[in-house]
Amino acid sequence: MTAIPATNEAKGDVVIFDTTLRDGEQAPGIALDPGEKLEIAEQLARLGVDYLEAGFPVASPGEFEAVRAIARTIEGPVICGLSRTQLADVDRCHEALAEAERARIHVFISTSPSHMEHMLKMTADQVLAEVRQGVGRAAEHVGDVEFSPQDATRTPLEFMLEVLAAAVAAGATTLNIPDTVGYGIPWDFGDLVAYVRREVPGDYVISTHCHNDLGLATANSLAGVRAGARQVEVCVNGIGERAGNAALEEVVMALATRPDQFPGLATRIRTEELARTSRLVSRLTGYQLQWNKAVVGRNAFAHESGIHQHGVLAERSTYEIMEAAAVGQSAGQIVLGKHSGRHAFSQSLEKLGIIVRGAALDAAFARFKELADRKVQLTDADLEAIVEEEVGSALEAGFALEQLEVQGGTSAVPRARVVVSRDGRRSEAVAEGDGMIDAACRAIKGATGLSAELTSFNVSSVTGGIDALGDVVVQLESEGLKASGRGVSTDVVEAAARAYLAAVNRVLRARARAGAVVATRREEATP
Ligand code: KIV
Ligand code: ZN
Repeated sequence: MTAIPATNEAKGDVVIFDTTLRDGEQAPGIALDPGEKLEIAEQLARLGVDYLEAGFPVASPGEFEAVRAIARTIEGPVICGLSRTQLADVDRCHEALAEAERARIHVFISTSPSHMEHMLKMTADQVLAEVRQGVGRAAEHVGDVEFSPQDATRTPLEFMLEVLAAAVAAGATTLNIPDTVGYGIPWDFGDLVAYVRREVPGDYVISTHCHNDLGLATANSLAGVRAGARQVEVCVNGIGERAGNAALEEVVMALATRPDQFPGLATRIRTEELARTSRLVSRLTGYQLQWNKAVVGRNAFAHESGIHQHGVLAERSTYEIMEAAAVGQSAGQIVLGKHSGRHAFSQSLEKLGIIVRGAALDAAFARFKELADRKVQLTDADLEAIVEEEVGSALEAGFALEQLEVQGGTSAVPRARVVVSRDGRRSEAVAEGDGMIDAACRAIKGATGLSAELTSFNVSSVTGGIDALGDVVVQLESEGLKASGRGVSTDVVEAAARAYLAAVNRVLRARARAGAVVATRREEATP
């Protein structure tokens, strides 16, 4: 293949701006609670992202709290919050970021004729005034301000240049070019970035933000980099609005694998953490990964045909352009079984970067033993799943599942009996359902007394094979509160019951939190 010379002479780092917790979470059906957001944020910091867009603080009190918790806790990445141009939005965003080591405010407004006319109902001049106002206010709060003209790829060039120049004059230090509706084609998008770079004077970094409606998000982002962009906005597993955003793992590995096409450019991502990050995001969002997903899919390094197997056995590079280990997809990661002790268990976890101590370790080890008795060997992926479920529920301390008995079959009515306990008190319920899982969930409803609607149910296997652990993620909605829960077991009905109960506990916790907020507000309102 002939290498096409890059249009851009600049060298240096490509900054990875992760928006999994903001744009990624906007994907239909994803509702992460603040604890889950924090867990993903911790892993993103371990992965080495430069910027972490934690959310859109003005969207809801829960979102504000999640951004605040991330800003307070996460070390390493710059923490970013999204804001519209309204002054109150910008101030609220700044308030959420107040405790961050380093903070960025990301201000956006639509600039395409279609968005201005149908959504904003504003003229071009009004939009320009908004840009000056919003970016200017953000620059009063922080030195690091990003500006995005939403729907940039359908915005007339002259107007976009005017808007971007106004943003720079008002204090923007990063100009993002969002392909909001995934309309871009690589060479066209690359030209757009080059054009901005040439025509907009000032000291700023150009960023790409590409959606995947035509399956071109990664290609467009890379075209942007070749044309001079030095920040790329991405989501883990490519999640996001509609068809999603450019996938972090794809952009990072394309840059790492083809230095001939991106001379002198590198990211600071610890690529060995990619697979684990991908699995975590997939589990907590309930978005399963397609098997053939580039870089992090379970088949990304699997070879089926005899010719390929022969080649790879003789020399890996015959059919592999990346090493599995380089993206954390280490093969032959074995394996704990029922004879393994607590020490080996905690060491294996530490190797995976999971540090659990004290009561949480006891609980995870007890669950590991219980599962190891039913399954011959447990892989790294199994271990992670067990610990996440067990530690998650230990921290949440709500109802615990004591007993589950189900009966069903082709002729019997599916029936379940459940015993749960909380604070030493046990309660029991029996229910019938459409199937055994339905009966188990209804019995839990009876035993816990929480009436909720099951809005999403996802079942997958943690690893392959007949003895794989079943991994269930459910989402419940109760009186306007949404919560998800996970359960892992060799038995899929038990996994579903555990997931349902974990979600019930989260709804109850969220209710308690909401009650506390209302009480505090009342106190604050009292003179
Ligand atoms: O897709 C988009 O335009 C966005 C902006 C808020 C950057 O997500
Ligand atoms: Zn977007």
